[in-house]
Formats: sequence, structure tokens, C-alpha cells
Amino acid sequence: MTTRRNFLKKTGILSAITLVGIPKISNAISIENNFAAVKKPVVLSTWAHGLAANEGAWKILSANGKALDAVEKGVMVTEADITNLSVGLSALPDRDGIVTLDASIMDEQGRCGGVACLERIKHPIAVARLVMDKTPHVLLVGEGAQKFALDNGFKLEPKTLSPEAEKNYKEWLKKSEYKPKINIENHDTIGMIAIDANGDLSGSCTTSGLAYKMHGRVGDSPIIGAGMYVDNEVGAACATGLGETVLRICGSFLVVELMRQGYSPEAACKKAVERLVKKNPDYKNAQVGFLALNKKGEHGAYALQKGFNYAIADNSGNKLIDAASYLK
Ligand code: GLY
Repeated sequence: MTTRRNFLKKTGILSAITLVGIPKISNAISIENNFAAVKKPVVLSTWAHGLAANEGAWKILSANGKALDAVEKGVMVTEADITNLSVGLSALPDRDGIVTLDASIMDEQGRCGGVACLERIKHPIAVARLVMDKTPHVLLVGEGAQKFALDNGFKLEPKTLSPEAEKNYKEWLKKSEYKPKINIENHDTIGMIAIDANGDLSGSCTTSGLAYKMHGRVGDSPIIGAGMYVDNEVGAACATGLGETVLRICGSFLVVELMRQGYSPEAACKKAVERLVKKNPDYKNAQVGFLALNKKGEHGAYALQKGFNYAIADNSGNKLIDAASYLK
């Protein structure tokens, strides 16, 4: 009879183990072994508007609050900013002149919630959180999402566009052409990922999506694994940019899985951008940025085009960092 030991001897595996020691079963194990080195709390968010959002999140993280509460309250700062043209109700509308909002949130237990194509509700991220906390579902869309929000005490906001959005929309209507403009038109989703004092990770993502999109279009931001993903054993990631390209590769899930395989946050984001390039022949006309944080509190980002930056807040302050890019 072949015992396990004989089998290992025959195949040479035993001598290999003797020579090099028992191999690591997974990167997650090595991450846990280094748990003492974790830099925490830390919060990261996409683009310069992330600086103000981080301030909101930091109030919670610095008081030993939960990463989940921090990423919700942090991006609410951006949703409430009436000068922002890509997040919240002041943002640019779709081609029918209607602002529709997408958002998602995920916590350290893998619980998650999202809303898509939500109209006239100021804080889609808070509705996404309620979907997670109060329903057996993950994603509510359109009228159903709005009804759920109103049933839970949210207020119906006016239909009117913000003055700046209205001015831009009237200008766009003159030609009604749709072509994404890199970093300008509307690829400025806010994605936020954080690790709290307890070492738990969470993430959030909220946007008005692509400016002048078809009515009903949903991007990557509310789709768990595309616009944002969290695995508390490994890390968290979020995406910004042209959602269609991110959806094709399940971008944020891919970044987290690459970190699980041992890639650093920046290397994982770079690999994901390279995959996106392969799967999107028209990639030169898009911008995408990935942002990642691992269980050790290490962070990194990588973008398709130049110009992507992210905000990081920790015990040393709150600052913007420029990400490296695939196209120079
Ligand atoms: N990344 C946001 C969107 O494409 O809707």
C-alpha cells in the first residue's frame, strides 16, 4: 500500500520540502503572519475630491470608529458638494437631462449593498448601506431603489439640474455627440477604501456615472467586484474611469485576487490595467484608475492614462499622490 510518506518520497516532494522547508500555502497566511506591522488606520480615495472626503472619514477612523462607517460618511462629503459635476445630484445628467446615481458599499464580513440608476436622492451611498443592512438583497435599481429610499425616510430632492450642470448640458445639446473625454468629462467617481484601528477593511464607491450616457446606463461603481471590492483577509480595491472597461474584467475583484497571489497593491493595480488593455481594444480613448490597500495597510494605484491621483489620510496627515500610468 502506498502510504502518504511513500508517495511523497516517490515523487521527490518530501526531499524538496526537506531542502526548502514547508512552502507557504497562500499569501493570505504570510499577510496574517505580518499582522503586527499593519499601518492603521488609513483611508484612501480617488482624485483630489478625495481630500475632503478623507477628512470626513478620518473623523471616524481617528476616534477608533469602524472602517464601514468611515467609508460611508467620507464619500457623503463628496455627494453633498454642490460644485461636483461627477458625484451626487449636482452632477452632469444623462442625455435626457436626468441625473442618475450609482453607489456601492462593502464591509469586512463580505456584506455588501448597492443602488443603481437612482434619481433625486441626495446620498445614494447611505441607501446602498441600507440595502446591505436592511434587505436580503445586494442591489436595488431605478424606481425600486427610490421607493426603498423614500420608505426609509430619505427626502425626494427637486428634479432641477445644478446651475453648472445645466450650463454644460445646454452646451452639449447643441451637438449631442457622445465621446468620453479623458479625466474631464466625468470619470471622476469617488471610490474610498479604509482599514480601521481594529485592522478591518471596508470600501465605498459613488458616482453619477458617465456624463450624457443613455438613460438607464449603469457603470461599474454599483457592481460589487467591478467598481469596488473588499476581502478582509487580503485587501480592498476600487476603480474610477470608464465603467464599461472595468466591468469587462471585474476590475476591483481582480486587483484583490492579485494581492492574494502576493502582488503589492501597486503591482496588482498595474496588472489589472494591463488586463484591461488586452480586453478593451479601444483603450486609448478611455481613462481608468485602480486604487488598492492591503491588509498590512500598504497602498498603491495605477492608471491607464496620466493624470490620475488619489488622496491618503493616516496619522501623518492627508495628501494627494500621483499614480503611475500605462500610457506615458
Ligand atoms: N466609473 C464610473 C462609471 O463609469 O460610471
